[in-house]
Amino acid sequence: MNNFCFQNPTKLIMGKGMIAQLSKEIPSDKKVMITFGGGSVKKNGVYEQVKEALKNHNTVEFWGIEPNPAIETLREAIALGKAENVDFLLAVGGGSVIDGTKLISAGLLYDGDAWDLVKKGKADKTVPLGTVLTIPATGSEMNDGAVISCKETKEKYAFFSNFPKFSILDPEVTFSLPDYQIACGIADTFVHVMEQYLTKVGESRLMDRWAESILQTLVEIAPKIKENKQDYQNMADFMMCATMALNGFIALGVSQDWATHMIGHEVTALTGLTHGHTLAIILPGTMDVLRQQKSEKIMQVGARVFGVSSGTHDFRINETIRKTREFFNSLGLTTSLSENNIGREVIDEIERRFNERDVHFGEDGLVTGTVAKEILNKVY
Ligand code: NZQ
Ligand code: ZN
Repeated sequence: MNNFCFQNPTKLIMGKGMIAQLSKEIPSDKKVMITFGGGSVKKNGVYEQVKEALKNHNTVEFWGIEPNPAIETLREAIALGKAENVDFLLAVGGGSVIDGTKLISAGLLYDGDAWDLVKKGKADKTVPLGTVLTIPATGSEMNDGAVISCKETKEKYAFFSNFPKFSILDPEVTFSLPDYQIACGIADTFVHVMEQYLTKVGESRLMDRWAESILQTLVEIAPKIKENKQDYQNMADFMMCATMALNGFIALGVSQDWATHMIGHEVTALTGLTHGHTLAIILPGTMDVLRQQKSEKIMQVGARVFGVSSGTHDFRINETIRKTREFFNSLGLTTSLSENNIGREVIDEIERRFNERDVHFGEDGLVTGTVAKEILNKVY
């Protein structure tokens, strides 16, 4: 086990009807800016619940934070927040609204252009932020990360600032999710776990089993959710899987990869393909190309999650990769670039960008532009 310091200050508020707790969680003397996406919350009753809970608070609303939140939109929100002297933020939505609001929370206390903060990768001074989560996927509700895009340059980068003060998770708000978003959310959660698990063996038995328990739960509930996405217990388990997959808990003292994510962000930035879908395409390629380095962990996840425990070494590796891809397909996701009309020129551009930035992603820094190209060619 590697050394670590761990602190996660986010208060989790879980369950049916818990949006009403907002009135207690946000101090009444604050000027609150509530941020939203494209309007799904007006169709499923979330907006009314939030307004009712905050009827005695001083609020201003900002609408239109899009999937893959764009700096162009967030600049407008920061300008509004500054003009209104906002000193508390409430994000009501998915990872995109929450991530965008994390940048707003830093941008409100920064005099320059907020894109500087994204390029720097971090911000220390932030306005406090709470969230009402509407889609289980990113874990943004309980971590300090955010991923921000620039439409003009087709770039997308991770940025780190502060944890939400609190996050409210009511599984009932997920009942209105489109099937595709559920599939992408499950894939995203699955790959978050793999990024922190599919590295080296023997670093922590406990982290391994925590990670496997999330993977096993996802494999068990995915077909049930496909059958009925309005089953409270299944959606509650899905929500907790997503939060626990990326709130730091399963990463304690173990190596992390994140190469699949870094490649996925480029695919989204260049083509617009939804985040979780890019990962479902790329992860089997990463496993295939790095089968030597990751062989022991691939064997372990094969045996413990997919029941692949006999046969030759090569058979077990191939079968585990096949079952991983099959799992993504079972969600309703395609697992190749060409099925999504993504051409070879996208692969070339990602290689070029990675080489220009001289990246070395992955737990051993092995994923360079050349290796990323190899991974993408495998899943073409
Ligand atoms: O905008 P609205 O109208 O609300 O619709 C959204 C959006 O179109 C819709 N939706 C959300 N909740 C709904 C709903 N529709 C019906 N009923 C509901 N209850 O779903 C669509 C997608 O929303 P989005 O927020 O984009 O999804 P997600 O949570 O998957 O977030 C994706 C973003 O998070 C980043 C991704 O890169 C991407 O930009 N990530 C953030 C991470 C983090 N902060 O730690 C880590 C992840 O790896 C990821 O990179
Ligand atoms: Zn992700």
